[in-house]
Amino acid sequence: MANNYKLLVKNAKQLILICNSGEKYLTSDGMQDLKIIENGSIIVGDGRIEAVGSADTIKVNYSEASFDKVIDATGMCVLPLVDAHTHPVWAGDRVHEFAMKLAGATYMDVHRAGGGIHFTVEHTRAADASKLVASLSNRLKRMLQTGTTLVECKSGYGLDLQTELKMLEVIETARHTLPINISSTYCGAHAVPGKTVAEATEDILQVQLPKLKECMETGAIQVDNIDVFCEKGVFDLSSTKAILQAGKDMGLNINFHGDELHPMNSAQLGAQLGALAISHLEEVTDEGIDAMAKAKTAAILLPTTAYILLPQPRARDMLKAGVIVALGSDFNPNAYCCSMPIVMHLACVNMRMSMSEALAAATINAAYALGCSSTHGSLEVNKDGDLLILSTIWEHLIYQLGGHQELIRYVVIKGNII
Ligand code: NIG
Ligand code: FE
Repeated sequence: MANNYKLLVKNAKQLILICNSGEKYLTSDGMQDLKIIENGSIIVGDGRIEAVGSADTIKVNYSEASFDKVIDATGMCVLPLVDAHTHPVWAGDRVHEFAMKLAGATYMDVHRAGGGIHFTVEHTRAADASKLVASLSNRLKRMLQTGTTLVECKSGYGLDLQTELKMLEVIETARHTLPINISSTYCGAHAVPGKTVAEATEDILQVQLPKLKECMETGAIQVDNIDVFCEKGVFDLSSTKAILQAGKDMGLNINFHGDELHPMNSAQLGAQLGALAISHLEEVTDEGIDAMAKAKTAAILLPTTAYILLPQPRARDMLKAGVIVALGSDFNPNAYCCSMPIVMHLACVNMRMSMSEALAAATINAAYALGCSSTHGSLEVNKDGDLLILSTIWEHLIYQLGGHQELIRYVVIKGNII
C-alpha cells in the first residue's frame, strides 16, 4: 500500500493521545488519566504521524490544499487500538465444544478427550496453506472492522516443524497482503502432541527452533515473539524455561501463556527471564504479581476466555501492585471473539477495570507487551499513522456491547483509509 499519501483529520472533538510523548507504558495512575486534546487535528504523512495538536495550531501551520485527503472530524473522536493476543490461524470447527462446555465440561476435560487444541491441530495439519490464508484474512478483516490496527498472531496449532512453519508463513503472507500490522509469535509449545513433555521439548529445541532461526535469517519469515503454554499437563516450568530461554537467545521477545488454570509460578519465571509479557494469569499468586511489577513484565488479560471458563484474573490487585496491564481478544476456537471493543467492555464489567484503564490496556500497554510501543499504541509524532475514528466520544466504544460498525467511521492504517 502506498505510503506517500498525506492525510489531515481536522477539528476532532477528541484526540485520545493516551499518554505523554515518550511514555512506553502506563501503570495505574497514568491509566486513570488518559491524555486527551479537545478540538484537535492530526496529520499523517508517509505513513507516520507528522503533527498532532489543537485544531487552531494545525490550521495556522498547514494549508489544506497540500493534503490528498481531509476528514472533517467535527463531533468525532480519534484513537489507536491494539490486540495483544490472538490465535487466528486454524482449520476445523469447534462449535460442538461450546455445547460440551455449556453442559459442564471443563477446558481440560475437552482437551484430555482429544478435543480442544488437539482437534484444531489435526485439522490445521491437514489444511493447505491457501485455505489457511483465506480464513486468516477473513478474521483479520473482521478485526480491522472493529478497529484493531495492530494485532499479535500466534502459530501453535501445528506442533511439528512442518505445520508450525506453514502457519508462520501464512501469517507472513497476511502481513504482506493486508493493511493490519502484525506481531507474529512462534507457539510450537502450545500442547504436547502424542509424546512426552521431554520429547516435545527436545523437538522444539533441537529441530523446530534451529530451522526457525534459519528461516528468520534468510528473511523468509519474520517472527517477533516466543510463546509456551506453561500449564499442568502441558509444559512444566523447567521445559517452559528452556524453550523461552532458547527463543530469547534467538532474539525473540518472551510472551507466554502462564498461571491460567493452575498456579505454576509462571509469573515468577517470566520475571526472572525478562519476559515482555505473560498472558492469562487467572491463577497468579501475590508473589507472582509483585515479581511482574518489578520486572515490568506486562500482564495480558483475556476477558473473553475468563468469561467463558472463569475465574476472572485479579486485574484490580495487579493494577494496585503496579503491573503493566494489557488486554487481548485471545481470538481462538475456544473464545470466538475478534472485537476489542467487546473485550474492553468485558474487562470493565467482569474485571472491574474503569473505561480509561481498559483503553490504556488496549492501546499503549498492548503495544508495550508486543515490544511495539515506540511505533504504536498512542497518537504521537513519528508513530505509525494508525487511527480509529469514531462518530462520538470514545467511551461509547466500550459502553456499547456490539454493533460497533455503526460507531466506527474510519479505520486508518499508515495514513490510508481502509
Ligand atoms: O489462550 N490456553 C491456551 N491457549 C488458548 C486456547 C487455545 C484453544 O483452545 O484452541 C488460550 O485460551
Ligand atoms: Fe491464548
